[in-house]
This record gives sequence, structure tokens and C-alpha cells, in this order.
Amino acid sequence: MEQETCSSFLRSTWNIDLFFVAVELLVLTKNVPRGTFRRTTETAALAHFAQARLWDSESCQHSFFCSFLQALFPCRGFLMLKARVISVSNQKGGVGKTTTAVNLAACLAAAEYRVLLVDLDPQGNASSALGVDAREIKPSAYELLMQECEPTEAIVQTELQCLDLVPSNQDLIGAEIELVSAFGREQRLKCLLSSVSERYDFILIDCPPALGLLTVNALVASDSVLIPLQAEYFALEGLSQLLKTVDLVRKFLNKDLAIEGILLTMFDRRNNLCHQVAAEVVQHFESKVFDTRIPRNVKLGEAPSFGKPILLYDIQSPGAVAYLEATQELIRRTQRPKPMKKADGTDAEAP
Ligand SMILES: Nc1ncnc2c1ncn2[C@@H]1O[C@H](COP(=O)(O)OP(=O)(O)OP(=O)(O)O)[C@@H](O)[C@H]1O
Ligand SMILES: [Mg+2]
Repeated sequence: MEQETCSSFLRSTWNIDLFFVAVELLVLTKNVPRGTFRRTTETAALAHFAQARLWDSESCQHSFFCSFLQALFPCRGFLMLKARVISVSNQKGGVGKTTTAVNLAACLAAAEYRVLLVDLDPQGNASSALGVDAREIKPSAYELLMQECEPTEAIVQTELQCLDLVPSNQDLIGAEIELVSAFGREQRLKCLLSSVSERYDFILIDCPPALGLLTVNALVASDSVLIPLQAEYFALEGLSQLLKTVDLVRKFLNKDLAIEGILLTMFDRRNNLCHQVAAEVVQHFESKVFDTRIPRNVKLGEAPSFGKPILLYDIQSPGAVAYLEATQELIRRTQRPKPMKKADGTDAEAP
């Protein structure tokens, strides 16, 4: 917020062009490379496609400003540069939580943000959607929550260099029961993630379709909650229940929990009901609703069976384009600067 105030002050009072030229020079002379896409043969097409969509002029200006500040103060703690933790949650089943968590995480990773996706659903769908067979995997989210392993031991790499995953499997059902009598049961995930949050720009948590202890742990560990909402008749009823839980978590456990936004999923433009529901949601939640609508798209449904996010499955599909646009909105909303470091901690390559 401070950063935004400062940024808009500079935009309104300085000659913006000169300012950014000065920033560019400073960044160059200090040899601080700006975040760019890694161009391997495998991800070159992805990089070009994603780059064009992810960086609009406003985000670029913002990132130049951040490059300037980072060049002056090259420490990650400066200006909120610790991971933004976002729970993707809705207690209603099958509304696109996992699809949203996986694809936003993949799009952010394609932009070289360092991303950790925590699969907090015993169904393990996010793990399999990223090609990780988590059925027998140990340690997983269960061992993590039960403090049977170090957080770093529960993290596995994925096909995308900047995207890591804490996989999950059916063992996690046990955690919900075993945690009931545990001390600090709602704070477990928060404590565990705080030890790795410096390594990432974003931590996304895929929540189960329930408002139990796992979801509460996710909400307590998060800066914000992103709510995928299927544009259908009962959507708003479920939403009010989730918002009550968010309020309770704010009141007793995490006063800073924000609503990152509501993302309408499986949107069918030809269906009047979808438009009516969307209008009602916008009327209630105004700017909290993402402008991007995720369309119902066969490729989005197919991609998990190949263990790939949509970017690696069919980058030209309407589903991929929509998730790239949603990612761009997320970057704008969270005011994240362009990444400066790669997942292995080295500087991002020059363009
Ligand atoms: N935009 C979309 N277009 C087509 N199919 C989709 C879309 N979004 C999700 N799906 C499909 O709908 C089903 C439910 O999606 P998803 O698993 O993401 O929902 P969920 O909210 O995570 O479900 P659960 O509550 O069981 O965890 C999946 O088969 C998924 O592939
Ligand atoms: Mg799911």
C-alpha cells in the first residue's frame, strides 16, 4: 500500500519518462537484470506468449519503480517482498479451485515468479494436475502438518522451473482428525510456511471443498483468499457461508486476511443465467470481482489428465488465455514487482 502511494505520487508529480530513463540507467549501471522469461527450447513459445500478456504498461512502470528501489535496497524484506500467501478457497465442490490454483501458479511461474503451490486437499488433485503421483509420496502435506518433516523436505519440483509443490494424498484426511487435539492447531501451516516464505514470491494454497481445520489453517496462513465462483444459481448461497468463515478467522485468528478477489469460472457467455449471476456478484462485491471470466473450456478439463497445467498443454486455448489474463490482474492487484531472481536464487537473465 505504501509502495502504491509512493508510486502514484511519483507518477503524478514527476516527469514519468525521464524518471524511468533514470531508473533504467541506474538498473543498468548497478548491473541489476530485470526479470525476464527463461528461454529454453521447451518454454520459448510459452515465454513469448505469456510475456506479451502478462506485462501491460502499468505493471511495467510499476516494475521499473520496484527495480529502482531494489537496486538501492537489495534486500527481500524491503517493501513487503516476502511471499504473498493466497488461499484458493470455496467450500462448494467442483467450482474450479484446483484448476484455478494450478493454472495461476503455472502462469506466475512462467513469468519467473517463484511460486509454491500447497496442495491442502486430501483428493490430491493439484498434485496430479502437475504430473506428481502423490499416492505413495512421503513426506507430503500430511507429514508437513504433523511436523514429521522439515518444510523443505515436503517440497517437490515440477516441470516448470519456478514452480514448486507440496503434494498431498489421502493421508491428509487423518491430519484433520489428529489436529483436533493439537496445541495451536489453527496456526500449524502458518508457522511452517513462514520458514520458507522468503524463498518465494507467491504461495498458493489449494483448499479442500469444506470449511474444516485444513481450510482454517490455510486462511490463517494467508494474506488473502481468492474465491473461484461458478456462475450458477446456488453460487451466492455458498459464498455467504465462506465469507462468514473469513470474518471469523479475521476476528479471532488472522485480522489481516483480505479478499483477493472473486474469479468467475466455467463461464458460458451464451448462457443468460451466467450473466445474471455475474451481474449480481459484481453488484455485491464490486471491484473485488476479477474482470476476467474463465470460460468453460474442454482443454482446461483435459489438461489435468496429462498432468500438465494449461500453459504446457495448449497455450493457445481460450482457457490458457483467460488464466494468463487472470494472472495479469492478480499481479496488478497484489502490486508485485517483476521478478528479479530465479527459483535457484540466481539473477534472472537479461532479455
Ligand atoms: N473452466 C473450465 N472449463 C472446463 N472444465 C473445467 C473448468 N474448470 C474446471 N473444470 C473441470 O471441472 C472439474 C472440477 O474442477 P476443479 O477440480 O478445479 O474444482 P474444485 O473446486 O477444485 O473441486 P473440489 O471441490 O472437488 O476440489 C474438473 O474436472 C476440472 O477439470
Ligand atoms: Mg479441488
